[in-house]
Amino acid sequence: MSGSSRRGSVNQKLLDRVAAGARDAGALVTAVRLADYDMPIYDGDLEQERGVPDGARAFQAAVAEHDALLIATPEHNGGYTALLKNAVDWLSRPLADGRTGVSLLSGKTAALVSASPGVLGGIRSQTALRIVLEKLGVIVLPQSMALGGAYDAFDQDGRLKDPVTDGVVRNIGRDLARLVGRLG
Ligand code: FNR
Repeated sequence: MSGSSRRGSVNQKLLDRVAAGARDAGALVTAVRLADYDMPIYDGDLEQERGVPDGARAFQAAVAEHDALLIATPEHNGGYTALLKNAVDWLSRPLADGRTGVSLLSGKTAALVSASPGVLGGIRSQTALRIVLEKLGVIVLPQSMALGGAYDAFDQDGRLKDPVTDGVVRNIGRDLARLVGRLG
């Protein structure tokens, strides 16, 4: 999943390259678009009165049936996006089977990447997201990529113009697939 729903999102492009590496390593990867799920901004009153909304429930179900997450996060004002935070907050809410206080993310693994036109490549958004995911029990892969100058980094086929960087990014997907395999 990407924390950007923008057409032409560089984070989506970067995510696609990580996913390609995971697929090459034998993983079954599902592309999830956060904007496709009808998830209102989390509101405790809304949840109490009407329960977890159907869109958030569907998103929980989609994540629950996977072992790992590949996440590309844009950086907005030094943090990660509201779209992504809202999705994570709904993921952490009571599950369809009535369980509460249990994060469905607990025990899953994740790889984080970020892309930005700036020089730091959105690294601050990754740091912030890593803390939140680890709080929810996610094992976050140490390997990551913060891609700076991202508006000029991809060719017309969606690959990174620099083949070395393209290989490093694909290897993140490969390493996550291997870790999932090792953990069983
Ligand atoms: C940005 N952008 C940005 N970039 C960055 O490196 N650090 C930052 O703190 C911010 N802050 C920020 C705030 C807001 C409100 C916007 C709209 C943008 C620029 C951002 O990296 C750029 O828009 C990317 O293109 C976003 O990623 P996607 O949508 O292309 O994946």
